[in-house]
Amino acid sequence: MSLQKLNCVVTGANRGIGLGLVQQLLSQQQHSTVFALCRNPNSATSLTNLSNQYPNRIHIIECDVSSSTSTSSAAFKVGSIDPTGIDIVIANAGIANPGLIATTPAETFLEVLKVNTMGPVHTFQAFYPLLKQKEMSKFFVISSELGSSKAAPSRNTTGTTAYGMSKSAANYFVQCVAREHAKEGIIAMAICPGWVDTDMGHEYAKQRGRNERPSFTLEESVVPLVQLMLGATKENSGQYVNRLGERIPF
Ligand SMILES: NC(=O)c1ccc[n+]([C@@H]2O[C@H](COP(=O)([O-])OP(=O)(O)OC[C@H]3O[C@@H](n4cnc5c(N)ncnc54)[C@H](OP(=O)(O)O)[C@@H]3O)[C@@H](O)[C@H]2O)c1
Repeated sequence: MSLQKLNCVVTGANRGIGLGLVQQLLSQQQHSTVFALCRNPNSATSLTNLSNQYPNRIHIIECDVSSSTSTSSAAFKVGSIDPTGIDIVIANAGIANPGLIATTPAETFLEVLKVNTMGPVHTFQAFYPLLKQKEMSKFFVISSELGSSKAAPSRNTTGTTAYGMSKSAANYFVQCVAREHAKEGIIAMAICPGWVDTDMGHEYAKQRGRNERPSFTLEESVVPLVQLMLGATKENSGQYVNRLGERIPF
């Protein structure tokens, strides 16, 4: 357990990997404050339960990452609660919307890109003023191996085209953030959490059409993810890695 005081922001924090990350940040960092962003705070019962378990350490804030207005408004609320800046921002919110290329409507492609690619862009832009207040700060995108043109072909990628495209573009965005903001001490990384036992992980299992199960429990994914994030340095900035920090080829 670390005594360092960290201000952290997690998007899509009400369930799945986002909720697991909030839990780990609170338990691994005794003095952390977590701003848990989600679309519907009123129905985020798991987060409300966590805020009872960790009094005064979680702020649940409304944020739809597909909207720059909603993301900016969330950042404004975070800054009003604590104007001293943010140490870690995790752009985790994502959707899969599987479908075959020939039959997937253009609107579905756009929706996936809006959440998985523009979501991280909106999140970075909105929180940039708070990130740059710290001498060193970190911006992570929860990506996927399906966004790698080299690694994805060894997986069953049928039905994941829009998703893979959106993560690939998000990876590229992370590389650019790392280069453009290095002088301000902002570290950026894209991390694949593995195939995880969440709603999205189950959806992928169903799509594969066999009796397959996700490779990792939520805990097996988020425990090393948070350790990797806490330990990230400027030498790691711009990297695209798995939850153990092993490089994934673009
Ligand atoms: N599970 C896996 O095997 C796996 C593998 C590789 C990468 N990932 C990535 O990991 C991240 C989390 O996935 P997960 O498995 O935890 O998925 P999940 O269980 O389906 O949860 C997705 C989360 O994203 C939120 N979200 C969706 N659209 C949003 C929007 N427009 N604005 C704000 N929040 C939004 C959801 O909120 P609502 O409850 O409001 O819908 C939910 O909190 C995603 O980026 C995903 O691509 C997952």
